[in-house]
Amino acid sequence: MRILVCKDYDEMSQKAAQMISSQVMLKPDCVLGLATGSTPIGMYKKLVQMYQEKMIDLSEVTTFNLDEYLGLSKDNEQSYHYFMQNHLFDHVNVKPRRIHIPNGNTENVDDECNFYDQLIAKSNGIDIQVLGIGNNAHIGFNEPQISFEKGTHVVELDDSTREANARFFETLDEVPKQAITMGTGTILKSRKIMLLASGRAKAKAIYDTVHGHVSPEVPSSILQFHPDTVLILDEEAASLLSEKDYKRL
Ligand code: GLP
Repeated sequence: MRILVCKDYDEMSQKAAQMISSQVMLKPDCVLGLATGSTPIGMYKKLVQMYQEKMIDLSEVTTFNLDEYLGLSKDNEQSYHYFMQNHLFDHVNVKPRRIHIPNGNTENVDDECNFYDQLIAKSNGIDIQVLGIGNNAHIGFNEPQISFEKGTHVVELDDSTREANARFFETLDEVPKQAITMGTGTILKSRKIMLLASGRAKAKAIYDTVHGHVSPEVPSSILQFHPDTVLILDEEAASLLSEKDYKRL
């Protein structure tokens, strides 16, 4: 696991956008795994800027998002479909037919999950998967106690996750109780993984990701077994690590 520590959120976002852009330059028809949450918003802003300055062309790229709330329609402002349109897809040239996000409004959840994993496999797997991390070390929506082998599946969201995400909704009651998420089994098949974290609230989860015992109680700890994972952190998220753990940028 490689760890890069940046001065602040802006530098973290810049570094992450540069990595995505290098991936796209090396392989224009690459498959990107994308994430939602506040953390990658800065990275998406930088990518949009790079696109506007003609420094990146996403016309051949395929994307797969990590997760979606169950029961929210695509045009619901709290859905991850809406988030991705708003922060990235409305502003760049990814072809709509190459954009994939689990359908949270599906009538048959099991089929949707199987279909999603099949689509990823048919696209020849994910070249680089972007991840954020929950305060409880969840990745995607894989909450503590998940089984590491799982492919895309339905999860019950932890109360702490619903409370953390309630800031995007009017009331806590409106936060869905379930979601569809790529499982850690799906995530680990990605050729490269780039996890972003910013702020002191993530410091403990990051410490456990790097030094914790690999166990389903800390979903992100499984990344210790992935051969090509990079953590891009700001100083606050890295504050419980020791300087010898990382490279400073
Ligand atoms: C949600 C998403 C995760 C994300 C996490 C952290 O639960 N499903 O993919 O990593 O939130 O979000 P934030 O970046 O807002 O802290």
